[in-house]
Formats: sequence, C-alpha cells, structure tokens
Amino acid sequence: MVDSVYRTRSLGVAAEGLPDQYADGEAARVWQLYIGDTSSRTAEYKAWLLGLLRQHGCQRVLDVACGTGVDSIMLVEEGFNVTSVDASDKMLKYALKERWNRRHDPAFDKWGTWVQPGALTSLYPGLLYQLWWGAVFLKGGNHCHFPEKGDQSEHRLALRNIASMVRSGGVLVIDHRNYDHILRTGCAPPGKNIYYKSDLTKDITTSVLTVNNKAHMVTLDYTVQVPGAGQSGSPGLSKFRLSYYPHCLASFTELLRTAFGGKCQHSVLGDFKPYKPVQAYIPCYFIHVLKKMA
Ligand SMILES: C[S@@+](CC[C@H](N)C(=O)[O-])C[C@H]1O[C@@H](n2cnc3c(N)ncnc32)[C@H](O)[C@@H]1O
Repeated sequence: MVDSVYRTRSLGVAAEGLPDQYADGEAARVWQLYIGDTSSRTAEYKAWLLGLLRQHGCQRVLDVACGTGVDSIMLVEEGFNVTSVDASDKMLKYALKERWNRRHDPAFDKWGTWVQPGALTSLYPGLLYQLWWGAVFLKGGNHCHFPEKGDQSEHRLALRNIASMVRSGGVLVIDHRNYDHILRTGCAPPGKNIYYKSDLTKDITTSVLTVNNKAHMVTLDYTVQVPGAGQSGSPGLSKFRLSYYPHCLASFTELLRTAFGGKCQHSVLGDFKPYKPVQAYIPCYFIHVLKKMA
C-alpha cells in the first residue's frame, strides 16, 4: 500500500521486516564503483582523522554502518584496533572478503566485522554497547537511513545509544549530507562529493517528500555505469534507490548535544574544512565531531 504510493527503495527490496535498503545487493555490488578510487577518497580526510584519533589517544575504534569497509580498512592499515558493524550483510560481505584476502596480516586477522541488524535503534543493543570505544564513526551519511516514526524518537534513541558507547575523553565523528541546501534548492550542492567521487556516477535524481509541510524524506535515485556489464562487454547501467531522513545542521546539532546530555565539546566541519555559517563555499557534507566530557 505505502509502496504503491511512494516507493522508498529499489524494486525487489523487501517492504517489511528489517529495513535494509541494501538487501537486493544492487547498491552493494556497485558501491566501490560509486566511491571511485578508495585511496583518493580517504586521502580527503586521512591526515585529519589520524591526527584527531592520536590527539585523543583513541586506539579502539568502532566503525558503525561501515558498509563495504572503506574507512575501516584504512584504519586497520594504520594500526588501529577496529571493529566494524553494519545492518546489511550484502554490504558487509565486501569488507569480510577483504579481511579474508588479507588474513595473514595480523592487523587484518584481528579486525572484527559484524552484521548487527537494527543495531543502533534497539533498546537492547547487546554486546556492542557493553564496550566503550575511544572513537565511534558514522561516516558517509549512514544514520540518515535510521527509521523515523514522525517524532524522531528513534533517532534520539539511536544517538543516545551511540553517545553511550564513547568513553570519556573519546570522540564521535558523525556526518550527514548538506540537507539544508538540498531542501532549499531541491538538489545536492554543486561540485564533487567528498565521499563518492566516481566518474562512473551518471546521475543522481533527488526527490523530497514533505509531510505536513515538513521535509520528511529525501530519496536519491542513482545511476552508475558498470564497465563491461552490458551486451558484448559494453558498459551497463546499475540503478538503485536509497532514502534518507533530511537532518538539517541546527536541529541535528541539538539532537547530538542532547544525546550527550550536554557533556560534550562539539565542532562542525564542512567537507573536512573549517565551516562558518556564512561562507561562499557550499559543502556537500557536514562532519560533526563530539568529544565526550566526564
Ligand atoms: C550510505 S552507506 C555508507 C557506508 C560506508 N560508511 C561508506 O562511507 O561507504 C550506509 C550504510 O549504513 C548501513 N545501515 C543503515 N542502517 C543501519 C543500522 N540501523 N545499523 C547499522 N548499519 C546500518 C547500511 O547497511 C549501509 O551499509
């Protein structure tokens, strides 16, 4: 019924049960192509991130909603003790494959990767939450997939869960697209996306769903070119649909501070550069950094 009015996910992805928008495997299949060159992606923020982790003495890192593991792999290579979770086995499968291929390297052998469906929004989140982490990441806009009932109670719960996992003095790095710009203009900011930089991305169509005059959901229809996947080795096209909750900068900042009970130092970057509310450059992503205070 709902999907006959407005379909929020790719055809074939179940409309009931675990809300895994990646369940048909299509986005997962081409995610690396959508990212483009992984080292050129991580080069955007590697020095900044490693500096942040070292400055706060963060050795144990939890990469939440790690997807295919692009950031986790970079951190494992850099000698951090990394655990990576994702709700989608289709996405995590690619991280596990890399782990297997590099298992003879002790750093990769001890890299922990888990599928934890609905991990963050559950009231009883399990083992993950009984541990404290030096740093917790949610990068690439992950938490915007979290379900939302209309009053943002699920978001508050997920962020409270996440904040509770960060040890005192540790950091949370969490980002979202520049939905302020998307809602104002109807499309993503111009220029290359810092995370998803591939030349193979042919189109991303943006739709905004408004409920009671309030933006409720942004749906992106992706078209990615897949080399050699068409007839007689010509490029084929992969199409998939993902939906997100449009967190705006001010309201999301407030949600984050509440999740930490106000006991945090908070700063915001735009595409990993210093951000001021009035500036010419329009970032694609806002990156929030929260240090947990005792
Ligand atoms: C946009 S992808 C980003 C993946 C990766 N962080 C990156 O930057 O490439 C979002 C990921 O969030 C995961 N995800 C969505 N909801 C989740 C939840 N409740 N718990 C854990 N992972 C979730 C999806 O399965 C997907 O792999």
